[in-house]
Amino acid sequence: MGCNFSLLPSLFPLAILSDIIMLMKDEILKKLYQAVADANMQISDTQKAKITLTNPDASMGDFATNIALVLSKDAGRKPLDIAKDIVGKLDQKSFSSVKIAGPGFINLELKSTELLKELEKAAEQKRLHTEGKILLEYFQPNIAKPLHIGHMQNAIIGDSLKRIHLYMGKDVESDTHLGDWGTQFGILILAYRMYGDPEVVARDPITELNKLYVRLNQEIETNPDLKEQGKQEFVKLEQGDPENRKLWKQFVDWSKEKFSKIHDLLDISKFEHDWPESFYEDKMPGVLDALKSKGILTESQGAQIVNLEDQNLGVAVIVKSDGGTTYLLRDLATFIYVKKQGFRKHLYVVDNRQAHHYHQLFAILKLMGEMEDDEGLHIAYGFISFKGEALSSRKGNMVLAEDVLNEARKRVAKIIKEKNPALADKDKVIRTVSIGAIKYFILSHNRNSDIEFNWDQALDFDGNSGPYLLYAHARLSGILNKVNVQGSHTLEDVVISGTERELIIKCLGFNDVVAEVLRGYLPNLLANYLFEFSGLINKFYHESPVMKESDEKLKFFRLKLITRLRDTLAQGLNLLGIEALDEM
Ligand code: ARG
Repeated sequence: MGCNFSLLPSLFPLAILSDIIMLMKDEILKKLYQAVADANMQISDTQKAKITLTNPDASMGDFATNIALVLSKDAGRKPLDIAKDIVGKLDQKSFSSVKIAGPGFINLELKSTELLKELEKAAEQKRLHTEGKILLEYFQPNIAKPLHIGHMQNAIIGDSLKRIHLYMGKDVESDTHLGDWGTQFGILILAYRMYGDPEVVARDPITELNKLYVRLNQEIETNPDLKEQGKQEFVKLEQGDPENRKLWKQFVDWSKEKFSKIHDLLDISKFEHDWPESFYEDKMPGVLDALKSKGILTESQGAQIVNLEDQNLGVAVIVKSDGGTTYLLRDLATFIYVKKQGFRKHLYVVDNRQAHHYHQLFAILKLMGEMEDDEGLHIAYGFISFKGEALSSRKGNMVLAEDVLNEARKRVAKIIKEKNPALADKDKVIRTVSIGAIKYFILSHNRNSDIEFNWDQALDFDGNSGPYLLYAHARLSGILNKVNVQGSHTLEDVVISGTERELIIKCLGFNDVVAEVLRGYLPNLLANYLFEFSGLINKFYHESPVMKESDEKLKFFRLKLITRLRDTLAQGLNLLGIEALDEM
């Protein structure tokens, strides 16, 4: 029966306008049409288009339809009488209540067993897309520079997006694109030669190298010649000077060791690819040739540039006047290489200060005929800062990732000690809750806005926080671990509360929220959904005790329901990169 449901006016708020609810509506309408036919009435396509099946009070999980009112006009009968006829013929086995209301509306309430069945179906839903490979690039720290809170923010957003892609059936792979090439390494080499004490540096390489780098840059302010010397060292490095290569390699190895430790502390997924900037060294000449042969490259004051002024994007420097290659050239080579590897789309998780860089990059790639509009996207995010607290650091104004992680652990350990001193696997809980609190705080904010990190909010066990979600999950797990859900019971229809209906409808919206996240690369939609979901779980937890329930049928139903709720919450947490805990 070709009925177009998109014509149905929808009263659903976006978050619960789920595919599944649409299918449920579809089923209900089919039953209504059958009842109309069985009552010997006609229904035309024009009439069908006017019929609404709405969810007037989402919290009740029930539906209302105007079908009798629509039919009454042409039939010349009272809507109330038509409603009675329809209800008389309606197949009522999936409804717990069917009532006629007002001038002839029919109100339908689905049985609890039907709702639970839908939940189980939702969990089975498979999403398979065949849109080709996607490369998601994030966690791009720079060699010999400390990892700060911005790198952490980047890794957390990128990792969540990767998990969400995979959940949605996308063919995604990730690349950690280390910044290991460029003029700054010439400056660093020079600084190391001028002031570096190899023994001191080897003890804490990143901190010490960064100090040397900062020191030389200060020196450069009064002595610009040093900058020229530094640039020359990079040119030498690019030309293969063995001494410079050796030093550079040492800096890279030291840095990678440290990055991999922090990668593990952040508990983010493995990268399929590790294509650092230097990986593109031998791929840059080809790009230069292509730019030249396409007549896009021009010379200006000894530098090679692409003039993008007609697109209001200024001038893009491809090779500097000293012959040194640029970040932009490496990114051109990167995009072209990645595409050649069969990736259909290249997503870059990079802070919003680089927006101009990506505008230039994409504009040049399009001029070269290497890129279509939908093949690349800069997933930008705002600036993260700290409120009040003097976490801002030993090193100037930089808030180091490690310091934040340590501070989080300290604070969580203290809370756990107060709240649950007898807890079994304390270390694991502290680790998971502390990183979970940070991840949730970052992901619950819209990535486009600047955020101010706030410990009180991030660790507020009663507020919009990671620990709050984790706690809701642990509560449900606690129940399931105490009772045996199996047994010989069969599921029977039971009377459920308004909160339970609301919770089920909310839970049914999960997959749609995740799909929505992916449309805008906005994990905050999922975070906020999970917060609301957890709020309902807590309400349900207090209103409907399970262990004390004497009605076995009701108890069994609730245990089934709790299993679905817990698994959904765990899945949601997992998509934010947070491991769900059974106890905390
Ligand atoms: N390493 C760079 C930075 O810290 C970010 C790299 C972003 N990725 C890219 N393909 N340009 O600024």
